[in-house]
Amino acid sequence: MAETQRVKISALGTYVPPRLLTNADLEKMVETNDKWIIERTGIRERHVVDQGVATSDLATEAAKRALAERGIAPSDLDAILVATVTPDMFFPATACLVQHKLGAKNVWGFDLSAACSAFVYALQAGTQFVATGAHKKVLVIGADVMSSIIDYTDRATCVIFGDGAGAVLLEPADDSLGIMDFLHEIDGSGGCALYMPGGGSLHPSTHETVDKKMHYVHQDGQAVFKFAVRKMADLCDQILKRNNLKGSDIDAFIPHQANQRIITATADRLGLRPESVIINIDRYGNTTAGTIPLAMETARQEGKLKKGSLVMLASVGAGFTVGATLLRWAY
Ligand SMILES: CC(C)(COP(=O)(O)OP(=O)(O)OC[C@H]1O[C@@H](n2cnc3c(N)ncnc32)[C@H](O)[C@@H]1OP(=O)(O)O)[C@@H](O)C(=O)NCCC(=O)NCCS
Repeated sequence: MAETQRVKISALGTYVPPRLLTNADLEKMVETNDKWIIERTGIRERHVVDQGVATSDLATEAAKRALAERGIAPSDLDAILVATVTPDMFFPATACLVQHKLGAKNVWGFDLSAACSAFVYALQAGTQFVATGAHKKVLVIGADVMSSIIDYTDRATCVIFGDGAGAVLLEPADDSLGIMDFLHEIDGSGGCALYMPGGGSLHPSTHETVDKKMHYVHQDGQAVFKFAVRKMADLCDQILKRNNLKGSDIDAFIPHQANQRIITATADRLGLRPESVIINIDRYGNTTAGTIPLAMETARQEGKLKKGSLVMLASVGAGFTVGATLLRWAY
């Protein structure tokens, strides 16, 4: 990377709403069963918000925890980036709502939309702001309330998604640790495999768009699955090779949690050590922009994020969007 200033993650905070939606609950709502969901996805339960709780609420809680861990005040921040596909509303940006709820003065920010890759894309955008010297403290939040756009009569999608948020603080690094490299790619030819058709400028909200269930997630699961298995491994392989690393060098592989089978297929292809692969989809489902910071927290609790640990983040999502990031954990 061409930046002059090395950048590190200096704090992490996560938040999930307390209410659980278990496989047993879903068995009562649609024609499905615990065994199918676990075998095909790896998910046992997910967290969902109560009515009236929005993405900015989850994002603000995660942000507060990251700031508390670092021991700084909201107004010490320079910028707040919110990665989300479920903003509280089209506008204002969720970043503005989070800024206000935190009481962060003299801060700017914006939302970034890249579905399940949005957190790693925002992480890289924030990294560039610090790397150029423009900023010293950038908060990057991944947050989604997927339950707000899921059709709970559609068994193909409602078993997969959950709600959650995570935030990391980016700061200049004064040693060789921190963000090392990234590789991102988008492929709009996959747009029709995973999308929410209604409510935008193409299909503004009408009674008809509601009747046709156009305000929910629509997914061709097998197309997404095949693309994810192929591309997540491809980008990770490329980023490892150009940094002269092998899969077995990775201490913590922190992938987007979309499906346990996608994660293990990727890990096998890359020759990762099984103990380095972070999986928490069983507890959270797919929280879209929330998965990677939530999985960072799991890695930390499992003792796999120590100062100097070699970490690879990997994402794939609607768009299609793909991302891979290499870093050394810095604290
Ligand atoms: C969605 C997904 C779990 C479905 O698994 P799959 O193995 O591909 O299953 P299929 O779609 O082929 O369906 C197999 C059968 O299970 C059924 N099925 C689908 N959902 C089911 C459910 N929740 N419970 C029980 N049966 C279900 C299907 O109707 C189908 O039945 P049929 O053979 O009688 O037609 C899987 O495709 C997947 O995870 N795709 C990627 C999705 C993803 O990651 N999205 C987010 C990207 S960021």
